[in-house]
Amino acid sequence: MKLYITISFAFFSSITLASIPPGMEDALTTSNVPAEYLEYVYLLGLFPTIQLRSDPRVSYGIYVPKDHYNAGSNLTSDKLPLLVNIHGTLRRMTAIQVDDQLPKFADGIGCAILAPHFPAGLEGPNDLSSYKTIHTASLRSDLALLDILDEVAYRWPGVETTKIYLSGFSGGGQFVHRFLYLHPDRVAASSIGAPGRVTYPDQNESWPSGISDVGEMFDTTVNMTQLNEVSLQFVVGEKDTEIHGSSEFWEWLEEVMGSADDLPPMNESRFDTVKKLRDTWTAAGVESLLNIVPGVAHDSEDPAMRQALWEFLGDEMSTWKNGTRSP
Ligand SMILES: *[C@@H]1O[C@H](CO)[C@@H](O)[C@H](O)[C@H]1NC(C)=O
Ligand SMILES: *[C@@H]1O[C@H](CO)[C@@H](O)[C@H](O)[C@H]1NC(C)=O
Ligand SMILES: *[C@@H]1O[C@H](CO)[C@@H](O)[C@H](O)[C@H]1NC(C)=O
Ligand SMILES: *[C@@H]1O[C@H](CO)[C@@H](O)[C@H](O)[C@H]1NC(C)=O
Ligand SMILES: *[C@@H]1O[C@H](CO)[C@@H](O)[C@H](O)[C@H]1NC(C)=O
Repeated sequence: MKLYITISFAFFSSITLASIPPGMEDALTTSNVPAEYLEYVYLLGLFPTIQLRSDPRVSYGIYVPKDHYNAGSNLTSDKLPLLVNIHGTLRRMTAIQVDDQLPKFADGIGCAILAPHFPAGLEGPNDLSSYKTIHTASLRSDLALLDILDEVAYRWPGVETTKIYLSGFSGGGQFVHRFLYLHPDRVAASSIGAPGRVTYPDQNESWPSGISDVGEMFDTTVNMTQLNEVSLQFVVGEKDTEIHGSSEFWEWLEEVMGSADDLPPMNESRFDTVKKLRDTWTAAGVESLLNIVPGVAHDSEDPAMRQALWEFLGDEMSTWKNGTRSP
């Protein structure tokens, strides 16, 4: 018995050593802090927004519900699912930090919530969209998220990070659907909310309008069969029918800024864009739900919109926890 215990500890520590993310060697984690102190070091409840060690420009907040987190557990079985919520262009973190909506949701469902923060201005004073297109001069926002997940996995070994539940609205919806093309293997289920300018699975157009050069840019290939293994929901407000900026505005913008962000001007409403994107995915064999939220325009803070975005993922997480589906 004694021998067995020694061996299993050696086994655990070798795993841990191999997987310490850069700069996390001295990190407090739920496996090295006594259980009764976890709240005092903020490892349970809302953790302070913290910079990503591999790229300190990027940061994240996380909420780990006290009543659900099994701090002593290193096992894969009873891990908490993780909902990753990607902010829109305004970078509002209110849902996790101010109005308590996401923490309440997390307490109800029994999941942890991660809210990454990709600042504007990384590529210059007018950069609002670098995180949305995933690959810009100095940022790979997809890799930054994967690094964040490594830190979370190390600090909270009781949180499931190999397969995440991913949601995002507007600019967040842009990030989410592009991340799905590149890393479908990391996502169990995803809500794509009202993206304005999107990437179609079009082999004749280059990124970020299409996917012809994904091999060169990301060293991967888009596999729509694998994408179809993710449970997917598109969400848009019934009244999200306005186009952001007139055609004159977009012409002016292009004149003063050149290509501000590799994305083409917006010439369709998000309502139309979402339906069109979903149709192209359907045609490529990718099944998804389409949830049109009645009476709502382009408003991620509308309670009905929030509910639509998170409820689908909440159901997916309960199904996983009930053991009827693997993550
Ligand atoms: C969890 O893993 C850590 C690191 O290997 C170890 O120190 C700790 O004792 C483990 N906890 C349990 C409950 O097995
Ligand atoms: C891509 O180009 C090929 C060859 O020119 C054409 O047959 C095909 O219809 C194009 N596909 C799309 C989605 O435009
Ligand atoms: C695409 O993904 C499917 C399902 O995961 C896999 O069976 C297939 O081999 C993949 N295709 C390529 C070209 O990698
Ligand atoms: C919007 O612009 C794209 C090219 O950027 C074009 O393919 C599409 O047809 C345009 N849509 C409308 C409604 O003009
Ligand atoms: C999972 O199990 C709980 C408790 O038995 C139940 O309330 C919930 O409806 C189940 N969820 C699903 C999606 O089956």
